Amino acid sequence: MIQSTSEAETNNVPAHVAIIMDGNGRWARQRGLPRIAGHQQGVDAVTEVVDACARKGVDYLSLFAFSSENWGRPRQEVDALMLLLLEYLTSQRQKMLDNGIRLRVIGDLSRMTQGVQQALAEAVRVTSAGQGLTLVLALSYGGRDEILRAVRRIIIQVQAGSLDPDGLNAETFAACLDLADMPPADLMIRTSGEMRISNFLLWQAAYTELYFTDVLWPDFNLEELNKAFDDYCQRRRRFGLTDEQLQF
Ligand code: FPP
Repeated sequence: MIQSTSEAETNNVPAHVAIIMDGNGRWARQRGLPRIAGHQQGVDAVTEVVDACARKGVDYLSLFAFSSENWGRPRQEVDALMLLLLEYLTSQRQKMLDNGIRLRVIGDLSRMTQGVQQALAEAVRVTSAGQGLTLVLALSYGGRDEILRAVRRIIIQVQAGSLDPDGLNAETFAACLDLADMPPADLMIRTSGEMRISNFLLWQAAYTELYFTDVLWPDFNLEELNKAFDDYCQRRRRFGLTDEQLQF
């Protein structure tokens, strides 16, 4: 995998930030509102955090927007989430272009409607030349699914004779993942007080620093992002080595 060396490091921010945006439903319930009101407010938080990350020089921001398990939610909620996604793509299009934001999507998009698939493909296409923040939306995504997709790609390569099974290592495996050309996440944030990875970026999270906050996603903002980054800056990442080794 590509190592994280970039403008982000000189700005003292993580190069790749991953966020599990949790707590929309509880935010709404606390206010006696329908769950979808929490998701709507969650979109505002997405907009603020994307802007902040782009300004701070973060290279990659991966947002867990819809998990493979979320398909099991009531139909009305799933439909509303898809609508919010479409509205987000439309409302943010010009800003993404102006700010050089490049959109990518990962996950099993085949489960989405043709309309959503087309809107995503179009947004990815028009922003593809962006030189700033890469915004990754994980949609219909599960980390185990991503690993299985990689295994299938490897089997195909082995069967075609282009990969020797003895040559398979962590690097060649990672090259078959959906996010093959991106560095692993440096920092993973999860809101709402839950302390789990919940099937997000399983392979890539091996050495990711984890940050949990009780703040519900709709209340997450620049101030909360700064707290997470400040905390990250205090971490000593050893990647399995000793402190002494890292001093040189
Ligand atoms: C988790 O909260 C959040 C989701 C399952 C969806 C996240 C979606 C958004 C923030 C809005 C759409 C995103 C984009 C990029 C336009 P929850 O519903 O599980 O909350 P709960 O645990 O309190 O019930």
